[in-house]
Amino acid sequence: MRLEGKVAVITGGAMGMGLATVQLFIREGAHVVVGGINTHAGSTLSELCKDGPGKLVFQRCDVSRESDIADLIRRAEAEFGQLDTIFNNAGIEQPVTPTPDVSADLFGTVIDVNLKGTFYGMKHAIPALLRAGGGTIVNNSSVSAFANVGGNIAYAASKGAVMSMTRVVAIEYAARGIRCNAINPGVIDTDMNRRNKDRAADPGTVEDRWRAITPMGRMGTGDEIAETVLFLASAQSSFITGVGLLVDGGRVAT
Ligand SMILES: NC(=O)c1ccc[n+]([C@@H]2O[C@H](COP(=O)([O-])OP(=O)(O)OC[C@H]3O[C@@H](n4cnc5c(N)ncnc54)[C@H](O)[C@@H]3O)[C@@H](O)[C@H]2O)c1
Repeated sequence: MRLEGKVAVITGGAMGMGLATVQLFIREGAHVVVGGINTHAGSTLSELCKDGPGKLVFQRCDVSRESDIADLIRRAEAEFGQLDTIFNNAGIEQPVTPTPDVSADLFGTVIDVNLKGTFYGMKHAIPALLRAGGGTIVNNSSVSAFANVGGNIAYAASKGAVMSMTRVVAIEYAARGIRCNAINPGVIDTDMNRRNKDRAADPGTVEDRWRAITPMGRMGTGDEIAETVLFLASAQSSFITGVGLLVDGGRVAT
């Protein structure tokens, strides 16, 4: 088991790629504290993970509220004695909107969750990781930090900033045993993209467009993301810090 005895915090872990990562971490022996706003999905998650070997705790946490994140980190240390890794995964999409039509409220909401939520996650995890003698941070950025199709200015701004913050924290803590990396998923088959598809003007052809911009010709899966997060969270990536790992089926190579 690649995470035996490790303690992880995962935000937004009740659905999508967060859920796949929680399940993989539990199978690999980690004890996982999941923070999320969907408490109903949280109880389903407990049932899904009951066979362990890692243990699971779900706590309500809105990542846009700093005090919720601080409580989440405290819970990990209180339940399991330490924190070894955090996956700042929670995020929301921006409904496709031309830039002049993006309200300040919409822009602010996306920034509050995707950018500030990741900042709060790192800010409060770092002291706990130092208390544990070091650890790892994985942030969920996006291919949007590098490639976009338009209509997503707030989302792209938030995910570009997540990449920048990842590099800053990597530098600050490289000599003190904390590695900080990001993943940059391409188009992944999750509820987020099912919502994007339902909102599209052409829901019947939108998946064809996503395949067309992806050289591998398909959407990625939550399990493929989970394996990448595990790699960056575990000792397998021991000399890697400050990178964004594209998991995009070749999209940014084009
Ligand atoms: N799906 C994609 O193609 C794609 C691509 C690149 C990056 N991402 C990023 O991956 C992450 C996960 O996305 P997903 O596709 O699994 O989405 P999803 O909508 O399936 O799951 C997102 C999870 O985050 C939770 N969440 C939302 N707002 C929250 C908040 N304020 N506090 C706590 N939890 C909150 C949701 O309840 C849900 O459990 C996001 O950061 C997203 O931006 C997704």
